[in-house]
Amino acid sequence: MHKPLFHRLLPDDIETEEVDPHSVAGGLLSAEKEAIEGAAPSRVEQFTAGRVCSRIALGRFGVAATTPIPRGEDRAPIWPDGFTGSISHTDTWCAAAVARRVDVRCVGIDLEPATPLKESLWRRVCTADERDRLRSLPDSGLMGKILFSAKEAVYKCQYPITGQFLGFHAVDVEVGDGSFRAVFRQPAGEFQPGDVVSGRYLVEEGLVASACEIRR
Ligand SMILES: CC(C)(COP(=O)(O)OP(=O)(O)OC[C@H]1O[C@@H](n2cnc3c(N)ncnc32)[C@H](O)[C@@H]1OP(=O)(O)O)[C@@H](O)C(=O)NCCC(=O)NCCS
Repeated sequence: MHKPLFHRLLPDDIETEEVDPHSVAGGLLSAEKEAIEGAAPSRVEQFTAGRVCSRIALGRFGVAATTPIPRGEDRAPIWPDGFTGSISHTDTWCAAAVARRVDVRCVGIDLEPATPLKESLWRRVCTADERDRLRSLPDSGLMGKILFSAKEAVYKCQYPITGQFLGFHAVDVEVGDGSFRAVFRQPAGEFQPGDVVSGRYLVEEGLVASACEIRR
């Protein structure tokens, strides 16, 4: 059992909830079940944990526990009217973050095992500048994983705005001490090259957790 991570990475007007996916027995609503029909048990467990966490967090804003969070054709969650959010899971931990859209335009969270990013993935995940910066760091493998996680969080955060798939080289991420800056390298929807999405991360109990939000 991990300690909750994301309330330390996100402002107070974003509600978060986290669980061990193995501890969740049921809890999907009928409108959500179609998305995982025939899926492997571990996938069903993680999908269910994401919906359960989301519902608990939405409940703190007064959203009824009977409100489904279906999956869109694009695989992104369809949040209740007036809300936005993000979900991430690993084999051992699952988290959701939700907010009112009047306060927060969108949020992105990501969880990864805190293991080094395999060298064979560096070229696919990292731009040449990112690879140069990583090589100069003492723990370049783990920093690579943090960079990967930050990109996944940024991807989920930008998606509700652009509706676009973005490859890993679409943004250049500068990782600092507990924070990151993702700089767009290409236009995407309303984003122009040079636009920045800032976020935060932490590494704890074998996990990398990353989070970012775009406010109104
Ligand atoms: C979609 C993606 C971000 C998921 O990340 P992951 O680390 O594989 O898995 P996670 O557990 O962290 O996240 C999965 C959840 O992301 C959410 N998700 C899926 N597609 C999404 C989208 N387009 N937008 C926002 N959230 C999305 C879903 O809630 C999903 O969980 P669910 O199916 O149980 O509801 C990843 O597989 C991907 O396709 N990335 C695209 C490339 C990229 O990251 N580019 C970075 C450049 S900015």
